[in-house]
Amino acid sequence: MTHLFDPLTIRGVTLRNRVGVSPMCMYSYEDGLSNDWQVTHLGARAVGGAGLVIAEATAVDPAGRITPHDAGLWSDDHIEPLTRVTKVIKTNGAVPGIQIGHAGRKASTNRPWTDNGQPIPADNPAGWPVVGPSPVAFNCGYQVPRELTVDEIHTIQNQFRDTARRALAAGFEWLEVHAAHGYLLHNFYSPLSNHRMDDYGGSFENRVRMLIETVRAVRQVWPENLPLAVRISGTDWTDGGWSVDDSVKLAPMLKAEGVDLLDCSSGGNVHGAKIPTGPGYQVPLAEAVRGTGIMTAAVGLITLPEQAEEIIRDEQADIVLLGREMLRNPYWALQAAQKLGRKVDVPPQYLRAF
Ligand SMILES: Cc1cc2nc3c(=O)[nH]c(=O)nc-3n(C[C@H](O)[C@H](O)[C@H](O)COP(=O)(O)O)c2cc1C
Repeated sequence: MTHLFDPLTIRGVTLRNRVGVSPMCMYSYEDGLSNDWQVTHLGARAVGGAGLVIAEATAVDPAGRITPHDAGLWSDDHIEPLTRVTKVIKTNGAVPGIQIGHAGRKASTNRPWTDNGQPIPADNPAGWPVVGPSPVAFNCGYQVPRELTVDEIHTIQNQFRDTARRALAAGFEWLEVHAAHGYLLHNFYSPLSNHRMDDYGGSFENRVRMLIETVRAVRQVWPENLPLAVRISGTDWTDGGWSVDDSVKLAPMLKAEGVDLLDCSSGGNVHGAKIPTGPGYQVPLAEAVRGTGIMTAAVGLITLPEQAEEIIRDEQADIVLLGREMLRNPYWALQAAQKLGRKVDVPPQYLRAF
């Protein structure tokens, strides 16, 4: 039987346990450049005992940022500041991961604490025009995206590939392609946002083509000995949208491209979708996808040590990722290990507290 605090080896990388920090945008950067905030924030969570610490959605292109303050890795200038992030995570015993993405039709918005995160119009100096598979806006108030040409699709795939190469240069050992939450790659595979008539729209095979080709480009430069993950939205929670069955069909296709693990989130592409949130509400998605023979991460309202332990023990997922709970408590993993009666690798400086 596998436990939460058992190590996990994927390719050449071993996580000390199966607790991960879910990628979370901090919206705290100038020109996408990493800074002291990111080093402190992610370093603290490595000190706190997590096995995997995944840096937030990091843009492959400036137009792929959600807000003007997002993290980015679209140029070589972004590499050196990020080496401080990977170093602090590794020094403190965790594996440094990064999520790379493009915000698609949900780009060019304010950060949540400015103007309620409202979209920024293209003609506002702080904003920019957004792109997507089809000219269908996320919601009124959001920009109508300009439909990407096939050449532009290939350019973005190359941007993902080049960003992966830079992530490697910065010292990351775990790469996650962001294909969830209503951002560009999700816009392509969901029939609700993709109305194209060419090779990238219509049938299931055509709608997932953007994601499959992107992953293929990334895997070309991301080394064989390092794990590659993809975050999907396992369902749109909307009739006529992307479904759990679609995710189950997609999983072996991604595995065939060298993807090791699917991080199973949901929603984000349909404004006002009715999402039945509750403790562990996305775990069944991870379990369904895992049934196809690929490793999964479960995420979403996982807050209790016993709950996380049960997900691993019952083989519903291989890793649990915590988001908001990790913002409240960077020491969650250390405390959870103690609570579950497992050996706790407390930093010696903190031993008197545990
Ligand atoms: C502040 C904040 C920022 C987030 N940014 C990202 C992100 O960059 N990429 C992503 O895939 N999900 C992002 N999410 C979603 C989380 O990774 C996670 O999937 C979600 O919060 C559900 O997990 P939780 O209930 O443990 O918080 C973010 C969530 C929060 C609260």
